Amino acid sequence: MIPVFRPCMGEAEIKAVGEVLKSGWIGLGPKTREFEEKFAAYMGCKYAVAMNSATAALHLAMTVMEVEGGEVITTPMTFVSTNHAILYTNAEPVFCDIEPDTLNMDAGKIEALVTEKTKAIAVVHYGGYAVDMDRVLEIAKRHNLRVVEDAAHACGGEHRLGKLGAIGDIGCYSFHAVKNLSTGDGGMVTTDDPAVYARLMKLRWVGISKDTWSREDKSTKEYSWYYNIEELGYKYHMNDITAAIGLVQLEKLDGMNRRRAEISKMYTDAFSSRKKIGLPVVKDYMTRPACHNYVIKTEDRDGLNACLKQKGISTGVHYIPNNNYDMYKKFRGATPVAGAVWKKLLTLPLFPDLKREETELITSSVLDFIK
Ligand SMILES: Cc1ncc(COP(=O)(O)O)c(C=O)c1O
Repeated sequence: MIPVFRPCMGEAEIKAVGEVLKSGWIGLGPKTREFEEKFAAYMGCKYAVAMNSATAALHLAMTVMEVEGGEVITTPMTFVSTNHAILYTNAEPVFCDIEPDTLNMDAGKIEALVTEKTKAIAVVHYGGYAVDMDRVLEIAKRHNLRVVEDAAHACGGEHRLGKLGAIGDIGCYSFHAVKNLSTGDGGMVTTDDPAVYARLMKLRWVGISKDTWSREDKSTKEYSWYYNIEELGYKYHMNDITAAIGLVQLEKLDGMNRRRAEISKMYTDAFSSRKKIGLPVVKDYMTRPACHNYVIKTEDRDGLNACLKQKGISTGVHYIPNNNYDMYKKFRGATPVAGAVWKKLLTLPLFPDLKREETELITSSVLDFIK
């Protein structure tokens, strides 16, 4: 079977892990620090804090944006972690409908959902294609709301205003097995605010004021055992084995994203004359999509899915709108567009190592079925 996603790992990642294993420091330490510094520089942010997942990153982002007890305007078209993070923080998700073409939150529908309880807007750059951030930022400013970017799909992608994840108040990234930058599992939060950064550093390591690595004197190797606990934190930090993979993947990220864009273009060129297939849409503000996935829209989605499976091609559906799930049904916000369009969505295979023959088999199989 051709998988839908596949991590792109090589000898450099294997070597980097080997070096960390031999170094004697495999927990939260110098590689994690180096990854944070290089990631922040790449994103054009002042600070980055490495986590063990984007789910953890989103939870702490919601915590430090102080949404507790309030409402967060969010999208139903996402992996549930975005919305679970709102609930973890004792806030309520309010669902905003999506644009039928980009599948991103429809910025034109946000303002009608704002109440005096609204604390933040959580945007997801679906598939690595930017949300209309000019309009989101304008609404946030008018109502004094924080903007949390879930850039789990969007590592390395750009909006006219900057790198995805680095435009709002706080950005969250995923390094899960099949993401554009992968470490198996992992995540990052970026911010420009020194107070937010300091709090994140504590919260990600059970509330400890100074992590073990910072407590070692680097010249004498003497270790100071004293630390304070200032607030209830979580066991959410990254370790140096993960960070070593992340450092190699960060170097490769732009190249891997270019390959994703090339494959996406091959699909678009093959399908663009067929009216029966809706394709990913690039708006003028999406200066560089991260091309995390390639999602088509078609009436007989399930029929196409079954046909591709028979030909050895795996597909996916991203996503069932979150407010279709039992535990989310009670939350405010009607989303008729998401409720209709998700039934047409099918995710085709897309990863940097996908071979030309494989893309040809995929495009010809889709075209045969549509015919
Ligand atoms: C949009 C979105 N947000 C958050 C997450 C959670 O990421 P992680 O698996 O790193 O916790 C994912 C993962 O698939 C995602 O797609």
